[in-house]
Formats: sequence, C-alpha cells, structure tokens
Amino acid sequence: MSTTPVIEATDLKVAFGGNLALNLPRLAVQEKELVGVVGANGAGKSTLVNALLGWSRGAPKVSGNVRLDGREISGLETHERVNSGLLLIPEGKLVFGQLTVEENLAALGDVKVGDGRRAYSVDEVYSLFPRLHERRHHLGSQLSGGERQMLGIARALRLGPRALLLDEPSIGLAPRLVSTVLETVRSLVNSGLTVLLVEQNVRAAIEVVDRLILLERGRIVAEGPAAAMRDDPRIAEAYLGAHAG
Ligand SMILES: Nc1ncnc2c1ncn2[C@@H]1O[C@H](COP(=O)(O)OP(=O)(O)O)[C@@H](O)[C@H]1O
Ligand SMILES: [Mg+2]
Repeated sequence: MSTTPVIEATDLKVAFGGNLALNLPRLAVQEKELVGVVGANGAGKSTLVNALLGWSRGAPKVSGNVRLDGREISGLETHERVNSGLLLIPEGKLVFGQLTVEENLAALGDVKVGDGRRAYSVDEVYSLFPRLHERRHHLGSQLSGGERQMLGIARALRLGPRALLLDEPSIGLAPRLVSTVLETVRSLVNSGLTVLLVEQNVRAAIEVVDRLILLERGRIVAEGPAAAMRDDPRIAEAYLGAHAG
C-alpha cells in the first residue's frame, strides 16, 4: 500500500530499566482500518498504545518515531497528540464517576476538530449507544463495566478522533457485551474511523479486525489479515484452542 498510514510507528522501543518492554520495527494503521494487537498479559500491548500517545505509567526510556497522517508527533506532548486527534481509551477507561452520563458527555469543553475528523454530537452517540441514553441521569460510578466502556468510547467520539486507540475494551465485560462493544467498534470503522484495538480476547477480536498483530515479549511474532491469522498456528494453538478436545 502506498498511501500514507494514519498511524505509523518505526523503530519504537520502550525500556523500563533493563527490561525492553517494546521493540517494534514498524507498525502502520491505514485509513479506515481496524488493526488488532493481541498477546498475553505483559506482552507490551498497553506499552505500545501508551507510547504512541507519549504517555506512560512509570518512567520508561522511549525511542523511535510516531507519525500521524505522515506528520512526526514523537516530539509532542501527550495533550498535543490528543489535540491532533489521536485518542486513547485506556484500560481503566476515562469516565468521571461523580458526573452523570449526560455531564460526562458535555464536560469536554470546546473541541477544535481539524481536517479528516468529525466530532459526534451527544444525540449521535446516544443513537449509537441507546443504553447510555437510558442511563443518562446515572453517575459514572453507577455504571456497569460495559456501560463505562461505551461512555469512554462515546466521549472519545465527541472529540472527533482522527484515530482511536482502544486498550482492552472487553476487559471485565460479560461475554454478551464483549461482542456488542467490539461490533460497535467495527461499525465505527465501517463509517470511516481508524482504530488500533488492543485485546487479550483474541477470539473476539479476530471476528471484527481487518488485520491482526500478535505480540510476545514486546515483539511482533505474527501478523496478517484476520482470515489468514485464524489459521496461523501461533494464534490457533495459543488462543483458539486448536488442540482443545
Ligand atoms: N510502569 C512500569 N514499570 C516497570 N515495568 C513496566 C511498567 N509498565 C509496564 N511494564 C512492563 O512492561 C511489560 C509490558 O507491560 P504491558 O504493556 O502493561 O503489557 P500488556 O498491556 O500487554 O499486558 C511488562 O513486562 C511489564 O512488567
Ligand atoms: Mg495492558
């Protein structure tokens, strides 16, 4: 593909002390593509999305390049990357517990939305997530895990993301809700959004992504279109239970 990727990282390395948590020669997400990054606990999935955003929990040594629509952003602060439209919904979600759903969706201030971006209105996110409309007068702290996840995505959409980074949206959700949330992500991509989806739930992720990347100890060990990856022995054996039963 010769088009400029929406997200492109090259030689991205993240080290916590002597532990090289991420070593990524290249990662690219094309426009309107849904790319899944899967791997076991500790594989480096959160480290990856956090590094794309220039954020971290500790004080890692980060090197390499990150580009958004071809523009180098690795020198930018996290808030500047967010303003450029790179939005992360972290593992813990980003929901205010003491505000109602309605207030969470309103409390975003004035959003400056640049080229190729579209900020969803409150009504639009309610029609995408009818459950949030039903719960609009409830506090963030009163929501279920699935509802909080939906609210996190809804808040990101209100900001007009150029690209969305999702860190394990299925975590803690009832199995029925896992596919609901991931299918909503798929439909957002179908309507033009670009998404990098981090998941431990390979079985659910492989149903919705275009392309799948398998991380082990911070390195890409397998990568390809979802359909092909289903037959990849590293995916099949480890996650899809090829040898089960
Ligand atoms: N703040 C930190 N301090 C030290 N090591 C960390 C920190 N965050 C992550 N790591 C290490 O980086 C590796 C990858 O972690 P992480 O990206 O959180 O994995 P995943 O999200 O795939 O479960 C692990 O070995 C983890 O211990
Ligand atoms: Mg993680």
